[in-house]
Amino acid sequence: MSRRDLLVETPARLRKGDVVMFHRCLTNVAIPVMAGAIVATVTLPGRSAMADRADNLIASQDPFGQLRTFTTNGLFDFDNPFFRDLGTNGRACSTCHRPDQGWTITPRDVQRRFVESGGLDPIFRNNDGSNCENADIGTPRERQSAFSLLLARGLIRVGLEVPPGADFTVDEVDDPYGCDAPRTSVSAYRRPLPATNLKFLSAVMWDGRESSPTTTILHDLAQQADDATMGHAQAARHLTDLEKQAIVAFETALFTAQAVSDDAGPLQADGARGGPVALAAEPFFIGINDPVGLNPTGAPFDSRAFALFDAWMDASGAARDVRARRAIARGQEIFDTKPIVITGVAGLNNETFPNGATVPDPFTGTCTTCHDTPSAGNHSVRAPLDLGLTDAARRTADMPLYTLRRISTGETIQTTDPGRAMITGKWADIGKFKGPILRALAARAPYFHNGSAATLDDVIDFYESRFHLALTPQERSDLLAFLRAL
Ligand code: HEC
Ligand code: HEC
Repeated sequence: MSRRDLLVETPARLRKGDVVMFHRCLTNVAIPVMAGAIVATVTLPGRSAMADRADNLIASQDPFGQLRTFTTNGLFDFDNPFFRDLGTNGRACSTCHRPDQGWTITPRDVQRRFVESGGLDPIFRNNDGSNCENADIGTPRERQSAFSLLLARGLIRVGLEVPPGADFTVDEVDDPYGCDAPRTSVSAYRRPLPATNLKFLSAVMWDGRESSPTTTILHDLAQQADDATMGHAQAARHLTDLEKQAIVAFETALFTAQAVSDDAGPLQADGARGGPVALAAEPFFIGINDPVGLNPTGAPFDSRAFALFDAWMDASGAARDVRARRAIARGQEIFDTKPIVITGVAGLNNETFPNGATVPDPFTGTCTTCHDTPSAGNHSVRAPLDLGLTDAARRTADMPLYTLRRISTGETIQTTDPGRAMITGKWADIGKFKGPILRALAARAPYFHNGSAATLDDVIDFYESRFHLALTPQERSDLLAFLRAL
């Protein structure tokens, strides 16, 4: 067994709820820093102690194995302002971006916090944690109902004003919560995006609202940190430049991925490149592997955006873990190459890109047409897309339904979240969201901006109903195994 294998095999299994930080510098002992007792002692023969110091990794159990975060800063600074209460309502960034939840939140953890605090944990604030702004939250019963979307789906309310000069108006809202908000605004209920793997971002926020054509992602993230502090944490003052820089330096050094699979074992074994350490070494620039010719190097698009598990394609043997490894590799092949007839996606089909390329409708692509960034899976250029997730036909009873009217023509659209249109004011941008990074998925259900897919199975159901993939049961289970290994 190689040294690398040893590194990824320890500790063999964490208990649910454990978050440990590995510290193997001199002692070769995994020392938990956040919860639980020491879970594993590791002796790695023949290692020079400091060369492999690993207080730069934290691990936690998730439903399908072990999640790990690696920091390129050398060690985790839990005194960083990211973890500090910088506002007036007790919240920190880490209130909604939890290391053991893939740096977002999961309903199960939110529910646990509700029970343990009687609904008084700082995440339960009625500025944006509740379905309605300023909801009554005086009693436990009121809190249970005021925070129902946060508890059920891990959704935060994002209040957005219709931008000045918009070419549409909000005519009506069918609001299950009767918030009685003015028609000049929209409450969008959205999943916190993971505050990790930020190296790969081409746009900040689901609707790209923190990004602009003239600023860098690092600049956008600094602005985002301040906006989050003023908004989510209801701060009385802006962050200082030093605080912003400290937060950005902390979060942009984080890389998070599934590191161990309960079925397949260490995801870096035998030549595979899963886990966060390999991810940190992946190159990225805006436009890398772009499918419509926007790669600044001129390199053609390679649909094999994921090659992490190539080495497992021909793994031989009938042992359970070897079979699981082959399934992950086959799932990767499906993700990279299975033809999908992509049709009716605003922002892609019939869209003309800055280089003059136009994508026809229909267009036969793959999952990686939209999830094109190598090893990360987000869209490598800013390309907000409307998959139809917010259409009236997919509305569930717990979501508001907005009727928007186009001023020039009088036509109307019903949507649960206007998406990018609330930023640009453009009718054409209704329902558009960015293609997010697809790592550490197993630890952070539910999925999509509105948490409408409770599991990765439900994600595949959505794509089946939307693009008629016609996956065989075997293909579906392979694709699932791959997504769970990311
Ligand atoms: C109350 C919960 C909450 C708190 C507190 C919070 N966030 Fe977030 N965060 C969210 C939500 C919700 C989104 C997605 C909103 C959207 O896109 O419309 C998000 C998005 C982000 C993103 C965008 C990632 C991407 O892929 O575009 C970053 C980065 C981020 N938050 C960092 C921070 C930082 C830094 C802080 C502290 C200063 C913070 N957050 C505090 C809920 C929270
Ligand atoms: C036409 C472009 C497109 C194609 C094709 C596509 N996706 Fe997506 N995907 C997106 C966008 C855009 C989102 C975000 C949508 C939202 O939440 O509003 C997304 C979200 C996801 C998510 C949820 C991520 C999260 O953090 O919530 C998963 C998982 C996913 N896609 C997997 C797949 C798989 C598997 C395939 C192939 C079967 C696929 N996608 C094909 C554009 C696409």
